[in-house]
Amino acid sequence: MELNEIKHIGVLGAGLMGHGIAQIFASAGYDVNLYDADPATLQAAKGRIADNFKVFIELALARPEDRDRCLEQIRLCPSIEALGSGPQFVIEAIVEDLEIKSKAYAELERCATPDAIFASNTSAISITALGAALKIKHRFLGTHFWNPPHVLPCVEVIKGADTDPAVFETVYTLMAKVGKAPVRVLKDVPGFLGNRLQHAMWREAISLCEKNIASAEDIDKVVKYGFGARMPFIGPLETADLAGLGLTRDIHRYLFPFLESSRQPSPALEDLVAAGATGVRAGRGFYEWPPEKVRQVIQQRDAVLLRIIHQIVSPAADRDGNESAGKR
Ligand SMILES: NC(=O)c1ccc[n+]([C@@H]2O[C@H](COP(=O)([O-])OP(=O)(O)OC[C@H]3O[C@@H](n4cnc5c(N)ncnc54)[C@H](O)[C@@H]3O)[C@@H](O)[C@H]2O)c1
Repeated sequence: MELNEIKHIGVLGAGLMGHGIAQIFASAGYDVNLYDADPATLQAAKGRIADNFKVFIELALARPEDRDRCLEQIRLCPSIEALGSGPQFVIEAIVEDLEIKSKAYAELERCATPDAIFASNTSAISITALGAALKIKHRFLGTHFWNPPHVLPCVEVIKGADTDPAVFETVYTLMAKVGKAPVRVLKDVPGFLGNRLQHAMWREAISLCEKNIASAEDIDKVVKYGFGARMPFIGPLETADLAGLGLTRDIHRYLFPFLESSRQPSPALEDLVAAGATGVRAGRGFYEWPPEKVRQVIQQRDAVLLRIIHQIVSPAADRDGNESAGKR
């Protein structure tokens, strides 16, 4: 299917990711069908999208009429059949469970338009395994958005073993067209690109904390105010080139034997989870999280991210040849 044949988008799942993904496509002018098995979540979706717009409007990155137009483009569907009839491209953002996702695809396949493309927003499940039971497995691929999807530009477009290369390119171009900064993941590896990089760092961060080498605050601080501060503009491989590859090789020779290389979650993480300290939802994890602090951090996070994205990431993405990245 050519990009210009895609006029209508379906989003399956209206939770944390699904409602934001619907917002992206509706903001870009596409008609969007949205469905969630939980009626309360579905009914709450438009209110959540209106809330998402507040920070864009405060920062003059959107006008109230943009919010209203976005909301008008979204149709809440009463069933998966209603979702499937019409869209040429359907993104699934439901619970992270291979069996539940596969069952939903089988239902979708029965009611979708004959040439529709399906994508999954899975964080970690193999795209090839997810598409295995589909008749249209050549029109199935991964589109991994980052949370919050309506704010963060990157989308990993993931090719499964059966994905048709032309479908892969169409979806890549669609993501750029709606203002995202897509990347091509050419092989279906666990964690794709971003989660492999991110969790390699989290494994080390948790290990440093567990060994009392520094406090959680100081470990986070060295990322936020140290090497992490340059990351919106310059990636690790560019930084390695700037530092010099001889130096990089020498550091790796010396340092690698000392880095965390466990193949299991850290005992400290297991202990926190076992004690019910599972993070913000429980009110505590590595930090204490009273509800007011959670609200404040999330609001500030979105405002800070939007400022960074519009002032720094857009020029960097333009430099990388991705003109629409970061713009909505
Ligand atoms: N939360 C994140 O930071 C994040 C980031 C990237 C990718 N993802 C992935 O996105 C997907 C969704 O995650 P989320 O955080 O939005 O979860 P969520 O729990 O907020 O939302 C999932 C929604 O799916 C609905 N649902 C479950 N089964 C369904 C079905 N059969 N049909 C229709 N709706 C159904 C649920 O009612 C729920 O509202 C997962 O695959 C997750 O791994 C999450």
